[in-house]
Amino acid sequence: MRQSAEGQRVACLGVGVIGASWATNFALEGCEVALYDISQDSVDRAMEHVRHDLDFLVTQEILFPDTADRCFARLHPTTDLAEALKDVRLIQESGPEHYEAKHKILEQVDRYAPPDAIFASSTSGLLITEIARGTRYPERCVGAHPYNPPHLIPLVELTRGEQTSEECLQWAYQFYQSLHKEPIILQKECLGFISNRLQLALSREGADLIMRGVCTVEDIDKAVTYGPGLRWAFLGPYLLMELASSQGGFVVADEHFRSSAQLWLKDMAKWEAYPDRWSEVAQTQIYDEMAHRPAEQGNNAAEIMEYRDRMLIELLKLHKKLHQRSR
Ligand SMILES: NC(=O)c1ccc[n+]([C@@H]2O[C@H](COP(=O)([O-])OP(=O)(O)OC[C@H]3O[C@@H](n4cnc5c(N)ncnc54)[C@H](O)[C@@H]3O)[C@@H](O)[C@H]2O)c1
Repeated sequence: MRQSAEGQRVACLGVGVIGASWATNFALEGCEVALYDISQDSVDRAMEHVRHDLDFLVTQEILFPDTADRCFARLHPTTDLAEALKDVRLIQESGPEHYEAKHKILEQVDRYAPPDAIFASSTSGLLITEIARGTRYPERCVGAHPYNPPHLIPLVELTRGEQTSEECLQWAYQFYQSLHKEPIILQKECLGFISNRLQLALSREGADLIMRGVCTVEDIDKAVTYGPGLRWAFLGPYLLMELASSQGGFVVADEHFRSSAQLWLKDMAKWEAYPDRWSEVAQTQIYDEMAHRPAEQGNNAAEIMEYRDRMLIELLKLHKKLHQRSR
């Protein structure tokens, strides 16, 4: 039987972009959620962020207004770590992305967390073995990397450090499943995990093409959005290759493309340091792209974010991953 998240006490430590969205996710699934950050301002901003996300789900007819209010009532904002960690089963850490910050948080967690609490880091790609050097209890540390925004995107990449216990990993797997997430477990620890390595490979090749003058930022964004991105929303690259040849099958498709692909591979980006001026070039072209997008797709960051969330909701409906919630 599926474990239930309902009624579980969880703490979100660090409630910026990711921590606040995790808090929304946990509250939607019936958890009692402590939101902790180092300043009252950050906690207040996170509460506004969650309220905004819940209200948006109401406008999209995913939540009834009184359900959104009930979710909001499950949030417990605080700047007192002892209070945040009282009786929690899961600690979702979403602090800054460097080892020193994670170690500082873990050192304090050791003081106040219940002995059976699982510490799950949202890290985008640091090693859990290294993060866990900040605690006396490395066996209960696991990586639980979400994709932004976690309250809408189902993927969670679970990684174990050298000392993570099997019990901790399995508990986390079942817990995220109970939140209707799609957890996957990495069989070996590696920097950047799976999805961010894939994303970075794509992004490096895009940067290379732009800096060589082959195309613009907007061309790359269009190529992904109206090309492979449409298919990737439903099928991964290897299943798509399985369908790529008229004779059928991956091996035939691979043979068909192999000699050409080997020429491309020789020409593709292999650098490890970003080209000079890359970020200025990209930023200028992103502003250009934003300025002349169709108005209904958004012309500034806030509008584009709302467009993203609306489109994600439509996709999640197709995936049958979003059901109207009435709890
Ligand atoms: N932004 C993304 O797209 C994304 C996606 C997946 C995972 N992540 C990961 O999630 C984590 C958080 O990223 P973010 O984008 O939300 O960053 P953010 O800067 O928006 O939020 C970080 C929060 O941590 C707080 N903080 C700092 N020191 C703290 C401490 N000692 N205790 C508690 N809170 C503290 C900050 O005040 C801030 O509110 C990082 O590890 C990041 O790599 C980010």
